[in-house]
Order: sequence, then structure tokens, then C-alpha cells
Amino acid sequence: MTTNQRSTGADTVDAETAADQPVVELDNVEIVYDRHFLAVQGVSMTVDEGDIVALLGPNGAGKSTILKMISGIGRSERGEVTRGSVHYRGEETTNAGATAMVDRDVTHILEGRRVFEDLTVEENLRCGLYREGRRLQFDESDYEIAFDYFPQLEEILDLKAGYASGGQQQMLVVARALIHRPDLLLLDEPSLGLAPKLVQDIFETLVEINREEEITMIVADQNAKRTLEVADYGYVMENGQVELHDPADELVEREEIKEFYLGTSGDDSRYTDVRHYKIRKRWT
Ligand SMILES: Nc1ncnc2c1ncn2[C@@H]1O[C@H](COP(=O)(O)OP(=O)(O)OP(=O)(O)O)[C@@H](O)[C@H]1O
Ligand SMILES: [Mg+2]
Repeated sequence: MTTNQRSTGADTVDAETAADQPVVELDNVEIVYDRHFLAVQGVSMTVDEGDIVALLGPNGAGKSTILKMISGIGRSERGEVTRGSVHYRGEETTNAGATAMVDRDVTHILEGRRVFEDLTVEENLRCGLYREGRRLQFDESDYEIAFDYFPQLEEILDLKAGYASGGQQQMLVVARALIHRPDLLLLDEPSLGLAPKLVQDIFETLVEINREEEITMIVADQNAKRTLEVADYGYVMENGQVELHDPADELVEREEIKEFYLGTSGDDSRYTDVRHYKIRKRWT
């Protein structure tokens, strides 16, 4: 797995010590794509057990990059942590691959509601039961968790997922992730392109899942207002760095947040000088 020389020897932590550790800890992390593109710099972050942590900031700030390096998916996009360290429950996972993190029950819901469009809703849910091509051992109750939180899905089991609405697709990807019984759930832009009422429903359900299933979550989203309402703690990123961080209820009171992220000034011109990477906001 990792060859990082700054290993703390955390491989040997016993279960009791691990329980006291933060779920995720980033220490002064720098992330580079393709060996030369510096995407994230000097980011330190702590995610405590049972919390919902908001990761906010404009386009290109580095939110998805952070999530991808925590889940290991960034490795397949030629992303690399070139400085600092990442720990998962006290164990060093700097530059660990996606398989290693899936084995630790870290589930990453990518931006863009990636459903298998030609498969039915039910078939999509069943895909949640496979890992590395093997069907996981499960009983019906594992599958039922999807309907406990998203009863609407039960009514559209035979619908091709490609024909489901944006809201239904978002429910489907969260439901599919739940079947994995994640320990940590990473959500990238769950509210993107959804009507306000749907965003409210999805976020309320995430809070229920967080409390009832005791799943720690990191939610990267541009909807700062809604995300901070449900989060315990928030980090605001800009240009690959953390600009602000505080408990969520304190963050919403900060003037910078009110002005630039909660839309009270109605001015988002500051966003324009942020480097643009993606023009792929197509999930509207
Ligand atoms: N696979 C990649 N290869 C090269 N550069 C990338 C890649 N993914 C992201 N970047 C760059 O890294 C920086 C951070 O991008 P990232 O996608 O993490 O931002 P973000 O905060 O998630 O933005 P958005 O709100 O648009 O999703 C950007 O400058 C972007 O151009
Ligand atoms: Mg992103």
C-alpha cells in the first residue's frame, strides 16, 4: 500500500486506540495531478466519528480532489499526494488505492449521479451487492435498507434508471451506497441540479442516515446554505487551500460566508477568477 516514509507506525494501533482516532485526518496535504498540476496545497482537515462535514467552495477549489484522494479514486486519475499525510482511523492511507479504501468500508458517491442507465432501478441496487466482481454475502435486510430511507424507489424498481428523474437517480445512488454499509460516506455535489424541495428532502434523509446508521459523512457541495444546515463542521476551500473552517453553526455567522456563499450580497463575481476545470455541469 503506502510507501510514505513518514509512517507513524500506525499499522500497529489496537482497536481501542483506533476508536479514539478521528475517522479521517489530512495533515498538510498537497495533491498533484499528472506529476505537475498542483491542485491542492497545505490542506489539513479532521473528520470526527459520526459527524457530517461540509466541504465548500467554488468551481475548481479542490473539493472533489480531496474526496478522491480520501477514497483512493484519485489515483486512477493520476492524482498523487506529494506532501503531507492522510490517515484513516489512525492508519496511514496516504496514496492508498480505491480497493484498499473500499475494504475499509469507505464509499464514494461521485458527482453526477452515475447510475447504469440501461439497467433497471432494481438492477442498479443489486450492483451495490458486488465487490470486485464477487457477490457479497447478504440477507434481504441489507437490501431493505434502501427502501427504509427511499420508499419511492420501491415503486420504480422496474424503471430503467436512465429514465428516472434527477431526484430519483440521486436517491438511487445513495441507496446503492447504503447497501455497502459504509463506515464513511463521501458525497460529491448531491444537490447539483435538483429543485430546492428535492434538495431539502435528500439532505434531511442524509441526516437521518447519519444518525440512525452512525455513518460519518463528508459532503462536498456548492449549496453552502443547505449543506451547513445539516453539517456539524465545515471547511471552505478556494484555489486548492482551506480558507476557513469552523463548526457549521459558527461558519454560517461569518461575514465572508454570508457575503460570498450564502448569497446575501447576491454577488458571485468572485467565482470568475477561479480556474475553470470543468464544463461538465450537465446534470441539470
Ligand atoms: N483529473 C484531473 N486531472 C488534472 N487536473 C484536475 C483533475 N481533476 C481536477 N483537476 C484540477 O484540480 C483543481 C481542483 O479541481 P476539483 O475538481 O477538485 O475542484 P472542485 O472544488 O471539486 O470544483 P467543482 O465545484 O467544479 O466540482 C482544478 O484546478 C482542476 O482543474
Ligand atoms: Mg467537484
